[in-house]
Amino acid sequence: MPVVRGKDIEILFSASAIARRNLELAKEIAGRDYNDLLVISILKGSFIFAADLIRAMYDAGISPEVEFIFISSYGAGTTAGEIRVLRDIDNDVTGRDILLIDDILESGNTLKYTRDLMLSRGARNVDIAVLLDKRMRRKADIDPDFVGFDCPDHFVVGYGMDVAHAFRELPFVGIVKGDA
Ligand code: IMP
Ligand code: MG
Repeated sequence: MPVVRGKDIEILFSASAIARRNLELAKEIAGRDYNDLLVISILKGSFIFAADLIRAMYDAGISPEVEFIFISSYGAGTTAGEIRVLRDIDNDVTGRDILLIDDILESGNTLKYTRDLMLSRGARNVDIAVLLDKRMRRKADIDPDFVGFDCPDHFVVGYGMDVAHAFRELPFVGIVKGDA
């Protein structure tokens, strides 16, 4: 078990398993009939997944535009509080096909808010890709179109995801087990 910051990390999804899955997801995305796709990565958590997925999309023959939106949902952790846009995209989304990329779908509040925002701005279609789905935690009426893995009901870190700003750099997804 890797030890990071003095903690044992149990690996849930390895770097190689994620890389393989990203290629499959990219092929699924390429199989859809998107027109001039605009990918929007939801920061901060999705930055590594989005970076890998859009390069897998290149391999699958798609050349999207890429944008970033910085959304915060405080009181954070696993319970979603008030949702705010901290930094918006630059593009006009009127008539566009959009793919939102996020790290993990839990209550669904973040992605529902973001999708509704893009639709209210006139997007033609807004689909959702997430690396992980904690479907047992869902509160909002929203379903992802592309899912890397079903996630067990544990707080996970790595591959962009943090706890208290730590562990984003891990190349895998894992669970913090306590002191090593
Ligand atoms: P939702 O709005 O409840 O779906 O929350 C989704 C957001 O909460 C994700 O984009 C993550 O940033 C964060 N989040 C939810 N579960 C976890 C977790 O297990 N580890 C790290 N971040 C999480
Ligand atoms: Mg997030």
